[in-house]
Amino acid sequence: MIAFVTPPSPVWFFARSAGFISLVLLTISVSLGILFSLRRRSRTWPLFVTDQLHSYATLVFFVFLGLHITTVLLDPFTKFNVTDVLVPFLSPYRRVWMGIGILAAELALALAISGWVRSYLGYRVFRVLHYATYVILPLALVHGLATGSDTKSGWGLAVYVGCVLCVGGLTVVRLRENAPSWRPIRFPALAAGAAGMGVLVLWIANGPLASEWVKASGTPASLLSPAPTPSPSPLPTLALAQPFVDNVTGTVATSSSTEFSASGSAVGTVPLTWVLHVLANQDQSIGGTLDVKKDGASICSATVSRLTDQGFVATCTPANATGTITLLLTLQQGSASQVSGQLQVSGANNAGG
Ligand code: HEM
Repeated sequence: MIAFVTPPSPVWFFARSAGFISLVLLTISVSLGILFSLRRRSRTWPLFVTDQLHSYATLVFFVFLGLHITTVLLDPFTKFNVTDVLVPFLSPYRRVWMGIGILAAELALALAISGWVRSYLGYRVFRVLHYATYVILPLALVHGLATGSDTKSGWGLAVYVGCVLCVGGLTVVRLRENAPSWRPIRFPALAAGAAGMGVLVLWIANGPLASEWVKASGTPASLLSPAPTPSPSPLPTLALAQPFVDNVTGTVATSSSTEFSASGSAVGTVPLTWVLHVLANQDQSIGGTLDVKKDGASICSATVSRLTDQGFVATCTPANATGTITLLLTLQQGSASQVSGQLQVSGANNAGG
C-alpha cells in the first residue's frame, strides 16, 4: 500500500487520467445534447438510443468525475482533505484553478439533479437551468489547462483543442439555426464566443504554457521541487589529484638546438591539453614551462627543470593545492611535426585540496 501511494504514484497518474476522461465525456455529453437539440438524429437508430446516449454519457462522466476526485483525495502528493476537494477555493494547491474545477463539478451535479427532478421544476425552468451547461465545459477546460501537469504535452493540448473545436463548432451550428428564439442573441453570442476564444488562446500562451506557471498557478512551496543547488564544481586542480599516466599527442611548433615548443592533448583518464616551451641554456641545462590546461583553464603551470632519458620533467604547485606535482612528459617524433608520447603525473597526493 505504501508503495502504491508514494508520489509520484499510480494513484496520481490515475487521478490525472480520470480528469482527462471526465473532460472528454463531458464534451461528448454536451455535444450529444446540442446535436439532439438540432434534431439531428440518425434515421437508422431507434429514438430511445439517441435520447439515452446523452444520459449514459452524462452518467459515465459522473462516474469518472467521482474517480477523479476520489483519487486526487487519496493521493498523498497534494495532501488534500475532504474540505479542500469539496469547497471551492479552499485548497492550498493551485487554489483558484482547483476552485474552478470544483465549481464546474458542483454545477454539473446541480444540473444533473435538476434533470432528475425535472417533473417538479417544470420544463421551462429545467430548460433555462440547462443552458448553464455551456458554462460547465469552459470552467472544466480552464481548470484542466491551469491545474493539469500534462497541459504542456502535445497530446494534452490536442485533447483540449479537440474538446473546444467539437463543442465550439456545434454551438456555432446551433446559433446559425433559424430558431426564432435564438435570433436576438445569435450575433452577441457569436461575438462573445470569438472574443472568448481569443482571450483563451492568449491566456494559455502566457499562463499555463509559460515556464513559470507551476509556481504562478499556486503550487505550495512544499511541493515545488527545490531549485537544483549547483554542486560545487570540482577545482580544476582535482584533475591532477591522483597520479596517472595518459597518452598524449601533439604538434611541434619550434624545434632547434636551443629551443623546443610543442602543444597537444592528453587522452585517457583526464582530458587535458598541454603546451611545452623549453630553451637550452649555455651550460646545457634547460628551462621552460609546461602548461597543463583543463577546459581551457590552466591548472598547472609547471617549471621544466630537467630533460632525462624518459622526457621533460616539470614541477608545479597548482592553485588551491598544498603539494607539488611532478610531471613527466615523454615525446617521440612522429611523421612531419607530429609527436606522441605519455604524460605521467605523480606526487599529486597532497594536491587538489
Ligand atoms: C467537471 C469537472 C472536472 C473535470 C472535467 C476535470 C478535469 C481535469 C483535467 C483534464 C485535468 C488535467 C490532468 C492533467 O493534466 O494531467 C485535471 C487536473 C486536476 N483536477 Fe480536475 N476536473 C474536474 C473537477 C475537479 C475537482 C472537483 C477536483 C477536486 C478534487 C479536481 C482536482 C484536480 C487536480 C488536483 C488536478 C491536478 C493534477 C495535476 O497537478 O496534474 N478536478 N482535472
